[in-house]
Amino acid sequence: RRYGPLRGRRVVVTAGGTREPIDPVRYIGNRSSGQMGYALATRARDLGAQVTLISGPTALTPPRAVSFVAVETALEMQAAVQSACAQADILIMNAAVADFRPASTAAEKIKKHNDEGMVLHLVQNPDVVGELAGRHDIFKVGFAAETNDLLVNARHKLRRKGLNLIVANDAVASIGQPEIALTVLDGERAVELPRQPKAVAAAALLDVIVERFEYWLST
Ligand code: C5P
Repeated sequence: RRYGPLRGRRVVVTAGGTREPIDPVRYIGNRSSGQMGYALATRARDLGAQVTLISGPTALTPPRAVSFVAVETALEMQAAVQSACAQADILIMNAAVADFRPASTAAEKIKKHNDEGMVLHLVQNPDVVGELAGRHDIFKVGFAAETNDLLVNARHKLRRKGLNLIVANDAVASIGQPEIALTVLDGERAVELPRQPKAVAAAALLDVIVERFEYWLST
C-alpha cells in the first residue's frame, strides 16, 4: 500500500502528557503539547510504517491513517503501550509520563477546610519504557527533556531504561515552543540536530532513527 524505508514496519509512538486524577475535577499533569509526538507519528506514516499513536490529552487532531489510542493516566499509557508492543518493530516513547500519581483518587471534589493546607500522598508510576528493557526484539527510542546536565542525564537514562537511542532536549527551551534543538545519543555517538520547527526536527529525527534501526537489524 505504502512505500518508503519503514514499509511493513509497525511503529508505536507515544505523545502528550499523562493526567493523574486527584479528585473528579483536578489532576497532576506534565507539560507537553504533543506537537513533537504527533509530528513523529505523521512522518513515520509517510515513510511507510503502520503507526499506532498513543496519546495523552492534547489540543491536536490525530493524523489520518494512523491507529489512534487516547489515554489519560500513566497506568492507561502502560496498558496501551504493552498491548501495542505485542507486535512492534520500533517504539518511540515521546510521552511525558507522570512519575507519580495520587495514592488514591477522592470520589468527591475535595473541599477547603478553614485556613488549613493539604498534603497529597503520591506513589510512583511504573516506568513504561523501562519495563520493556527485556524486549530485545523492539528498537526503543526514549526522550530526555532536562533542565540541567542534559547529556549526562540522558546517557544515564539510555542505559538505565535499556534504550537503543535517547533524544535529549532542553526542557525549558522546547516545551510548548514551536522550535526544538535535539541531540540523539546511542552508546557511542551523538548526532546534533539544530533548533528548527518541530515538524522539521521530527523528520530529521526519523531519518536518524531509520538509519540506526536498519543498522541494528543488520547486527
Ligand atoms: O526519567 P524521564 O521521565 O526523564 O525519562 C524519559 C523517558 O522515559 C521518556 O522516553 C518517557 O516517555 C519515558 N518514561 C516512561 N515512564 C515513566 C516516565 C518516563 O516510559 N513513568
